[in-house]
Amino acid sequence: MARKKIAFIGAGNVGATCAHLCFLRELGDIFLYDVIDGLPQGKALDMLESGPVMGVDLRVSGSTDIRDIEGASCCVVTAGMPRKPGMSRDDLLKINAGVMSTVGRAIKQLCPSAFVIVVTNPLDAMVTQVKRETGFPKNQVVGQAGVLDSARYRTFLATELGVSVESVSAAVLGGHGDDMVPIRSHTTVGGVPVERLIAPQRLEQIEQRTRQGGGEIVNLMKTSAYYAPAAAIFRMVEAYLLDRKEILPCAAYLEGEYGVRDCYAGVPAVIGAGGLEKVIEIELTEAEKAAFALSVSHVRELVAAMDKVL
Ligand code: LAC
Repeated sequence: MARKKIAFIGAGNVGATCAHLCFLRELGDIFLYDVIDGLPQGKALDMLESGPVMGVDLRVSGSTDIRDIEGASCCVVTAGMPRKPGMSRDDLLKINAGVMSTVGRAIKQLCPSAFVIVVTNPLDAMVTQVKRETGFPKNQVVGQAGVLDSARYRTFLATELGVSVESVSAAVLGGHGDDMVPIRSHTTVGGVPVERLIAPQRLEQIEQRTRQGGGEIVNLMKTSAYYAPAAAIFRMVEAYLLDRKEILPCAAYLEGEYGVRDCYAGVPAVIGAGGLEKVIEIELTEAEKAAFALSVSHVRELVAAMDKVL
């Protein structure tokens, strides 16, 4: 059986780091696309040359010709401008929406059955634009945000309590903005609800740090985070290609779930060979429902703002 091909549309820090994780875990042949001539070719060759040392025999290639994504089973979209210091995700709206239109058309034509994971910011608007351009069904186009946001929340909680990150189970839902919603009622440490372990005021501080987790890194590095975002995407690619049916928080196109219609929002979903196979509806507290609704209203505003500039 031929190996699956994973296309990374955007070979910057996030795309290339994720490609390297997929390479090391031998998930499939790797193709890197970027507009900067030399970059995807060079990174692909460099990665390929690590094969003999790591014992990996995959095909790895790169080009500036979007037509080379043809036949990919999975497309990871990170193309566009990254955040710069002082820039909100929303500042990127206009430039990156145009990029998503071009990329969406190419995916539709060249990989009509691919599972598409959009990562470009502002995430919720960009995934909306890719879904529109491809015309793909909702199981085929998802956004990555929740795995990353939940990973940050888990990191901070594990550090606070001095326990393994693996003992912390958490979900951060809603939009990938500063009003994302850490779901305390479903956050547990070794099965114990987090609210029994950390005082409300301290928990609020940890949640605030989580909401601003992307910005914290941008302020330090003067560019967007990539190790944790790449790991988060990797997890989604793996769940799809290995049909793991893993429940992961993803930006999913909702059609009534959580009381939301025709809008992307971060919710827990089953990822397997069918792509986003099912949205899982968990029961939220009244406060969480209100925070989720507010976050979704901001996603709608963002999409409306995008429609104005497109
Ligand atoms: C972050 C960017 C990738 O949250 O949105 O780090």
